[in-house]
Amino acid sequence: MRITMIGAGYVGLVSGVCFADFGHDVTCVDNIESKVESLRQGVIPIFEPGLEDLVRANRKGGRLHFTTDLAGAVSNADVVFIAVGTPSRRGDGHADLSYVYAAARDIAKAMTGFTVVVTKSTVPVGTGDEVERIIREERPDADFAVVSNPEFLREGAAIADFKRPDRIVIGSQDERASEVMREVYRPLYLNAAPLFFCDRRTSELIKYAGNAFLAMKITFINEMADLCEKVGADVQKVAKGIGMDKRIGDKFLHAGPGYGGSCFPKDTMALVKTAQDHDSPIRLIETTVAVNDTRKRAMARKVIAACGGSVRDKKIALLGLTFKPNTDDMRDAPSLSIVQALQDNGANIHAYDPEGMDVAKDMMPDVTFGADAYSIAEGADVLVLVTEWDAFRALDLRRLKPLMAQPVLVDLRNVYPPDEVRRHGFVYHGIGRREISA
Ligand code: UDX
Repeated sequence: MRITMIGAGYVGLVSGVCFADFGHDVTCVDNIESKVESLRQGVIPIFEPGLEDLVRANRKGGRLHFTTDLAGAVSNADVVFIAVGTPSRRGDGHADLSYVYAAARDIAKAMTGFTVVVTKSTVPVGTGDEVERIIREERPDADFAVVSNPEFLREGAAIADFKRPDRIVIGSQDERASEVMREVYRPLYLNAAPLFFCDRRTSELIKYAGNAFLAMKITFINEMADLCEKVGADVQKVAKGIGMDKRIGDKFLHAGPGYGGSCFPKDTMALVKTAQDHDSPIRLIETTVAVNDTRKRAMARKVIAACGGSVRDKKIALLGLTFKPNTDDMRDAPSLSIVQALQDNGANIHAYDPEGMDVAKDMMPDVTFGADAYSIAEGADVLVLVTEWDAFRALDLRRLKPLMAQPVLVDLRNVYPPDEVRRHGFVYHGIGRREISA
């Protein structure tokens, strides 16, 4: 199979590289010359465990190509994936589809022979119809089919998610295209990953419904955590207790500072807008969005309370800034709201993140960045664990305590057993865990 991937961003790059690793001949197209050049050298612009090695191996194997020449890459392809960005449109929260439609026009001009055009980007229901209309308008003679094939990759675990998915969703109304998609995913299919075929609009909605449901599940346990704190219960055990019911499941029930990242915030908003536009509002998700927004700032209030009601001129040490571990992605990270709210209250913020600091530096003025957890803890009035990087899971509490002005740990990810931290002489505040006096 000759596969062309339009957009060498996160989704395009991971998918393209994994397809090449499965033996397909893959060309990734991007319009940023410098990005293409560094990808050719095996240098990747994002942090994703295992990705750089896989790029290099497949470059060596000759199955993975990078180019800015879209027309050349499309003309010989059996399948063209559109994996360009669909950011939230400024002002109205709708997904911005201009890059998708521009790609559709460019593809139309260049394709020869039967070509399957696949929307991999997360796109609202009906986008596939519009892509089809654009291609037909541009090239009335073309032989093609438009298919929806959403991605379900988690940052930090994207390669494993690609290679061992729970399912592969394919929205296709064309038998020839379905056959081609079966061939594209044959290596995975042989790995027993189920291919789920449905119509295109259903497939587009599955992506949004899936992400919205997960965002709602997280938000549910976050609100449950607040209640736990009030009534003296332990949210970790509530999650475990309900998660053992197979109808509920134990995943995405980890209470924390609210969800962030490139998908959940954007996709929940876009679903809310689509539903409102069709006069069928999804109030559960409207509420999820609102509750999650409020939660990030509420985490700052938790830190302020842990500092005795004021953080003015206090030194606050933040561990982790990215929206989750194993990524350098700062998009909609809870840390952004937390830092802003603490600074508004007069705090001095010191922070450390294993991978996110380069990006964070541009987004967080007046934050002092340190070299590790211990250096930022020096003289701090409180240590706040924001992102659960492995590097923060086994901190030497004995070493930390004498460094700090006040031994207070606010653990927004419930990484530490409260009793153990208290045994080391710390005041401990977790999320949704009954307060036991130290
Ligand atoms: C998500 C989806 O999981 C993936 O299928 C989709 O295609 C893209 O969006 P991603 O954004 O990479 O992936 O991260 P994910 O691991 O889902 O976490 C999203 C956010 O939810 C993070 O901020 C994370 O900290 C938070 N989260 C997740 C929780 O607070 N609790 C949980 O139990 C799980």
